[in-house]
Amino acid sequence: MAQFVINGGKKLKGEIRVSGAKNAALKAFAAALLTKEPVLIKNVPEVEDVSRMAELIKTLGPKVEHIRRGEYRVTADKLNSSEIEPEIGKKLRASIVLTAPILIRTGKVVFPHPGGCVIGERPIDVFIDGFKALGANVSQENGLYNITARKLKGAKIVFHNVSVTGTETMMMSAVTAEGVTTLKNCACEPEIESLAQFLNSCGADIKGAGTHTIIVSGVKSLGGGTYRTIPDRIEAGSFAMLAAASGSNIKVKNCRPDHLDSLLGLFQKMGVKVKVGTDSIEVAAGKKIGAVGVKTREYPGFPTDLQAPLSVLLTQAEGQALVHETIYEGRLSWTEELKRMGANILNLDPHRIEIRGPTELRGREIESPDLRAGMAYVIAALCAKGTSVINNIYQIDRGYEKIEERLKKLGADIRRV
Ligand code: EPZ
Repeated sequence: MAQFVINGGKKLKGEIRVSGAKNAALKAFAAALLTKEPVLIKNVPEVEDVSRMAELIKTLGPKVEHIRRGEYRVTADKLNSSEIEPEIGKKLRASIVLTAPILIRTGKVVFPHPGGCVIGERPIDVFIDGFKALGANVSQENGLYNITARKLKGAKIVFHNVSVTGTETMMMSAVTAEGVTTLKNCACEPEIESLAQFLNSCGADIKGAGTHTIIVSGVKSLGGGTYRTIPDRIEAGSFAMLAAASGSNIKVKNCRPDHLDSLLGLFQKMGVKVKVGTDSIEVAAGKKIGAVGVKTREYPGFPTDLQAPLSVLLTQAEGQALVHETIYEGRLSWTEELKRMGANILNLDPHRIEIRGPTELRGREIESPDLRAGMAYVIAALCAKGTSVINNIYQIDRGYEKIEERLKKLGADIRRV
């Protein structure tokens, strides 16, 4: 099993380019199955989750061509299976987004409870309720969900929970449904708005994506098109926090600073020196940074996917701060290892920790539990004195493209062995 060996404590310097957003690209792959015409997907991060998605789509019949680095063509003229391959589906949360095109194209979809990061309970009731509201029949047998519908019908759906993939799946389901669908209490993440723009460019009629109410007027069919993946705001935020935590000068390039307003606001309160450009964030090593507490929230609030790197940064800040993880109840357990690296963290309950800083971190051997916590360990290891070994880096490869090569260019001492 591959691992990262990191010798920490070095100041980093230079520029780092942000990849396309995994969580946007994966949805474009699913959306490509809504049309029989070819869809070109650009600026795709070459990460494990994208490979799993491509693999999964091929099992359904469509062609997925890897044209060049970061560019794929999906042609779904044939879609001859209604079943999401359970072994892959269980590994990938985004597999659930495929339920919409499969149901529309074949009248049926059979799928396992989707997997992904182990970060707490990840129910799918929002999807099940949504499909029912659009007129589908839902049953469960042998641990698999079975949804059928000859033709989906527009409806008003008020999500009882704000869900990113739930919003995306219902938006896609409504695109060719009969009549108008009104989705309320939608998630507003930039990846959703970007998906809607792409679907509209293929002939859909979606209004309001990026707000809490989305109105979809059903159209007969969609044509093909080109999707350019938006920059990964989580990767950009993680690099900026690496710079702040390690006292380094790093320019994060090719990003969308307007997608990171909550983080930039927090930086200002903490005293982190940043220069924001139109597509870059430059962090300059400052003197002291102060601790500021945060509650993770749906966009435009502070993202749960940045909670782990922020917690590492707070171990290097002066003072005491509360981190309140409101989205997932299992997403703070990774901090046990951070404590063993020397962090002063008090676990108040499954949703809240108190961090006191600054503390000196020490290198250790650590197991990466999930993607974002894995990246946080990389940041912690780069800040720590001594050598760290990070195991199970498949989790990091799921979402970050060749991370060690990019960090090496900043002067990081990191090796994949
Ligand atoms: C997406 O997951 C992202 N994944 C996650 O990124 C991200 O952490 C999350 O949104 C929140 O921003 C993808 O886009 C593939 P949710 P998703 O449904 O859509 C509850 C990463 O590291 N809920 O918005 O699965 C749920 O329990 C990953 O890249 C229900 O109650 O998350 C949670 O508390 C990890 N019922 C909240 O909603 C449902 O049916 C938000 O989850 C669905 C969700």
